[in-house]
Amino acid sequence: MLTLTKYEKLNINQWDRLHKTSYDLKYPEGHTIRDQKYFKNKKILDFGCGNGVNFEFFKSLKSKMVGLDSSEKALIKCKKKKIKQIFSIKDLKKLLKFDFDIIYCNQVLYNYENSNIDFLIKFFYKILKKNGIIYLTFLNKKSEWYKISKKVKNSDFRITQLNTKKYKIKKYINWIDEKKLTKKIQKLFKLIKTGYFGHYLDKNDIGTNASYTILVFEKK
Ligand SMILES: C[S@@+](CC[C@H](N)C(=O)[O-])C[C@H]1O[C@@H](n2cnc3c(N)ncnc32)[C@H](O)[C@@H]1O
Repeated sequence: MLTLTKYEKLNINQWDRLHKTSYDLKYPEGHTIRDQKYFKNKKILDFGCGNGVNFEFFKSLKSKMVGLDSSEKALIKCKKKKIKQIFSIKDLKKLLKFDFDIIYCNQVLYNYENSNIDFLIKFFYKILKKNGIIYLTFLNKKSEWYKISKKVKNSDFRITQLNTKKYKIKKYINWIDEKKLTKKIQKLFKLIKTGYFGHYLDKNDIGTNASYTILVFEKK
């Protein structure tokens, strides 16, 4: 199963702190709504589901959602929303009994080192139906956060440290290369869509200027 490195654990702790304080999303992200054709009438694993923000949306599409997150605080918020099937990453093995139509993994994979991303992709393969889908999104190198990041020794992460009036953040990000990932998993999955979106809320605000990649794969 997953063996977490010290930087992965730091990311998890940071997310747990965020869930305790500020991070409480109310609506699914725009690309999730635009890409709703993938989520209709499906059995979905929301891997890194946070507070369960997508639950009502998936339900409105007549889909059933199983959620997983690393943050205990986020899992409590999911239970309050009466989401029945909620798992912690410590319980990853329990997902082996499922066969999902789609795994939705929105802005989560970059919290992992490459070896664990490889492990998870193989794990996703095991718990997906034939022709099942993985819908991945992650930060890409057009983000301001990449431009100011520094390589972390003995790790696949780069560190971005913001010390502005508004943001005091130290974040380890694995800047996943979409071409390398697609090539690496081509025996198991066929790429069926590449897309991009950005959050450019304020051009002078480095904390919110981020660019993202969407990759959608179908199980071979
Ligand atoms: C950017 S939020 C995305 C939340 C949700 N997927 C969405 O679409 O809004 C990242 C989520 O990943 C979770 N997370 C962080 N590290 C994780 C890990 N190693 N494994 C699983 N989830 C993780 C965080 O707790 C957080 O809820």
